[in-house]
Amino acid sequence: MPKLKIAPSLLSSDFSRLGEEIHAVIEAGADWIHLDSMDGHFAPNLTIGPPVVSALRRHSTVPMDVHLMLDNPEEFVDDFANAGADIITFHAEASRHPHRLLTRIRDLGCKAGVVLNPGTPPDDIEFLADSVDLVLIMTVNPGFGGQKFIAGMLRKIELVRAMLGEERDLEVDGGIDQNTAPQVIAAGANVLVAGSYVFGSDSYLEAIESLRV
Ligand code: DX5
Ligand code: ZN
Repeated sequence: MPKLKIAPSLLSSDFSRLGEEIHAVIEAGADWIHLDSMDGHFAPNLTIGPPVVSALRRHSTVPMDVHLMLDNPEEFVDDFANAGADIITFHAEASRHPHRLLTRIRDLGCKAGVVLNPGTPPDDIEFLADSVDLVLIMTVNPGFGGQKFIAGMLRKIELVRAMLGEERDLEVDGGIDQNTAPQVIAAGANVLVAGSYVFGSDSYLEAIESLRV
C-alpha cells in the first residue's frame, strides 16, 4: 500500500485565518492540504474558488489537493491548475466525459482523480481505473463537515483498492476520526481527509498523529 497521508480539510478551519491554519497543520504533520470547492448545485453549499486557492498557494509547502464538487468541472480545471492546485479530483456523477477531463488535468501538470458519491457503484469507474492517479471515495454525502461516517463504504473501499492495485492513492473523505481511521485503512485507503476532527481539536498535532495507525 502507498504511504499513509493525512489531508486536513480547510472546510472546518477558521476562514478568517486560512494562511495561519495551513501553517499550523503542516507544522503538525499534514501531508496534503485538502480544499473543497462547492457550487451550490452539485453540493448544497458554497465554498472556495480559484482565487482563494491562488492566495493560499504560497502558504503551503505540501501538495494542495482540490476536491471539486461542481456541476461543470470541465469549465474550472484550468483555473484551479493555474491557481496552484497539485491534485484535482472531480465527481464521476458530474462529468459527461471523465476520461477527457482526466487527460486535461494531467496535461495541466496536476495529478488527476475521480470521486464517487456514497450511492455511486465502483463499477462506474472500472474502465477509468487505468487513467487515474487516485480515486476519492466519499464516506459522507458531499456538502458539509462534521457528518457521520457511512459504514457501508468500507466494502467500496476494498473493491476500489482491488481495482487500483497497490501503488496508487485511495483517498477517503468524510467522518474520519480516531475510530473510523483504522477501519478505512484496513479496507485499503491510504489518504485520509479529516476536517472537523483535526480543526475541532485542541491539538492539531495529537489529532493528526491519532489518525496514523
Ligand atoms: C464534504 C467535504 C469534506 C469535509 C469533511 O463534502 O468534501 O472534505 O470537509 O469533513 P469532516 O472530516 O468533518 O467529515
Ligand atoms: Zn472534500
